[in-house]
Amino acid sequence: MVCHVGLKVTENKMADKSAASADLSEEQIQELVQKSHLAKKKAYAPYSNFHVGAALRTEDGTIFTGCNVENAAYPVSCCAERTAIFKAVSEGYKAFRAIAIAGNVESEFLAPCGSCRQVMREFGTDWTVYLTKPDLSYRAMTVGELLPCSFGPDDLNKPKVKGQ
Ligand code: THU
Repeated sequence: MVCHVGLKVTENKMADKSAASADLSEEQIQELVQKSHLAKKKAYAPYSNFHVGAALRTEDGTIFTGCNVENAAYPVSCCAERTAIFKAVSEGYKAFRAIAIAGNVESEFLAPCGSCRQVMREFGTDWTVYLTKPDLSYRAMTVGELLPCSFGPDDLNKPKVKGQ
């Protein structure tokens, strides 16, 4: 699996680049990471108290943010990543370059849940997910790396076995 471990702004320039992080400049990555942590402040998470933010960058550079929005009927809750993606799609954007995800967990990069990986995959496998920590360090992976061997829109159009 190819992945890229990034450090904070000042140290990042030293880090190796991988296919997953080659697209955006360090400044653009840091902007996205910072916006994901700002979005986290809006989290509505009275049940889990687990605050999450996301910042999604479209191909044209527009950034949509999102936070988790929980509900007293727990399964109705929406993750931060999906909030950001649904906001973007509802505004007419479907070409995504990268998404940064921010949580409060001190010592680990916050990884997206399986449902959010599937929603990301709907819009391609070759775009970047920045898993971050509160100190703004990040790890870059592609959607395809996070969800290998996935099911997507193209699968629906593949030839079917007759009679089954
Ligand atoms: N959550 C997210 O928003 N994104 C993730 O990637 C992981 C989990 C939210 C869902 C729920 O509101 C809370 O975190 C605890 O699971």
